[in-house]
Amino acid sequence: MLPLPASIQTHDGAFTLRSTTGLGGDRRFTAASRWLRGVLQASTGFDLDARIDLRTDSIAFIQDDAVPAGGYRLSVEDDGVRITASDASGAFSGAVTLTQLLPAAVNRQGLVDGIEWRIPATTIDDAPRFGWRGVMLDVARHFLPKADVLRFIDVAARHKLNVLHFHLTDDQGWRVQIDAYPRLTEVGAWRSESAHGAARQAPGDGRPHGGFYTKDDLREIVAYAAARCVTVVPEINAPGHARAVIAAYPELGVSDVPQEPDEPSVWTRWGINEAILDMGQHTVDFFRTVFDEVMEIFPSEYIGIGGDEAKKGRWAASPSTQSLMVERGIGTVEELQAWFVSQLDAHLSAAGRRAFGWDEILEGGLASGATVASWRGEFGAVAAARSGHDVVACPDDRVYLDYRESELPGEPIPVGPPLTVAEVYALEPVPAELTEAEATHVIGVQANIWTEHIDSARVIDYMAYPRLCALAEVAWVGRERHFAGFETRLEEHLARLDVLGVEYRRATGPLPWQERPDAEGRPSTREQRAALVAELTKDIRA
Ligand code: ACM
Repeated sequence: MLPLPASIQTHDGAFTLRSTTGLGGDRRFTAASRWLRGVLQASTGFDLDARIDLRTDSIAFIQDDAVPAGGYRLSVEDDGVRITASDASGAFSGAVTLTQLLPAAVNRQGLVDGIEWRIPATTIDDAPRFGWRGVMLDVARHFLPKADVLRFIDVAARHKLNVLHFHLTDDQGWRVQIDAYPRLTEVGAWRSESAHGAARQAPGDGRPHGGFYTKDDLREIVAYAAARCVTVVPEINAPGHARAVIAAYPELGVSDVPQEPDEPSVWTRWGINEAILDMGQHTVDFFRTVFDEVMEIFPSEYIGIGGDEAKKGRWAASPSTQSLMVERGIGTVEELQAWFVSQLDAHLSAAGRRAFGWDEILEGGLASGATVASWRGEFGAVAAARSGHDVVACPDDRVYLDYRESELPGEPIPVGPPLTVAEVYALEPVPAELTEAEATHVIGVQANIWTEHIDSARVIDYMAYPRLCALAEVAWVGRERHFAGFETRLEEHLARLDVLGVEYRRATGPLPWQERPDAEGRPSTREQRAALVAELTKDIRA
């Protein structure tokens, strides 16, 4: 099983699914029972009616407050299966575990003949280490069609991941329909071409790229995720990574300083650029409206505001920005970003939500309610937790799944240092220097999938799996983990991924069609990356 349950006892005997078997139970666990019915019905062909009498020949979901949050007890006996949980998420995780006790073919989406659907008698008591077990998906650099997003969520949920951090806007594209500002998707969702590969002088590929999700698409994604107990946390990135929004509404950009010849336009290069939002009141008002529409689509308590890698040179050089700072009594450009973050934070808080941003939002003083995604090593996690902010650990050198997987020359468009399955597995999300009280602020862990060089679901599969399996186990299991045992279970688990049609990376490296000899990468070493991160974070460490 993967992730490994906390306690497994096996017994003699087994329960065998039949056409007469019932499935149902507590109405609070409808998501879990519906999902399980869908999975079982497709492959077994059994109708699994929602009978009232669930004592025998049935799979029953039962509510019990004694089960820890997010956890479950799964009890398989000769006459039936009981999944007991205190909350919907725990019931769903119990259902996932049940599918892992069945042959891998149970995951097929069409009728499978000739299999006895036997579940060995077992008692499992299980609960997750973290409440936030996430994966970030960047759909801004490359748009991912909705059907692929749904499939990505389904496979993630089968690993008991429960948060999709949905990176919806960046320099290279704006992907969410906003009624008040139609140009965001009319203009901001499209770029004329993309840089081909990761080299500094990478040529343009000459192919336009774009796409966006309508509000109905996004509501469907949210509902599909909710049916798998996955929360979609949307992210709208500001005040940097804003070329697409400025292309749509140029008045939102700082413009009283020299501009690049191609500005304003949706960016066609990768990396970080100098464009930044103007900090006038009109920008704050604009983003309040955007976030109002975003909150209307996404029920998530956490709403992403970005905040990373905002180059502040134009703020420093801009006469209008400088006079705004004087007017507001703001001394530094870092404090100006903090001011903007606090405006968004206050707006989200007033609506009963919480701002969620990259660890740069710690610079210049962080608004009280905000939660931090700590990506530049673990420095942000330490700084955030010590100052009483909740934090999600996603240190780049352990969980950036766009980084190359090995030193093999055939790794597709290699960027960053090598990051192996074993290295992901070795991540301890809670920095050692935190006290026990500070450590309670580390609410979870997530992997991040940046898609500059990942242009399709097939490439996502290659980069994500099996490293995301390792991350899922880091998020679920306690500190005590054993890689050798994980590797053995992973072998079995890959058979499930095969059945699901996931094109994971083979341990031997890329298959010929997974290589990209046409596109140059920009790999670095661990030491080079660590030195860069140390330089980038010197302010929050000081
Ligand atoms: C990031 O990698 N810029 C959060």
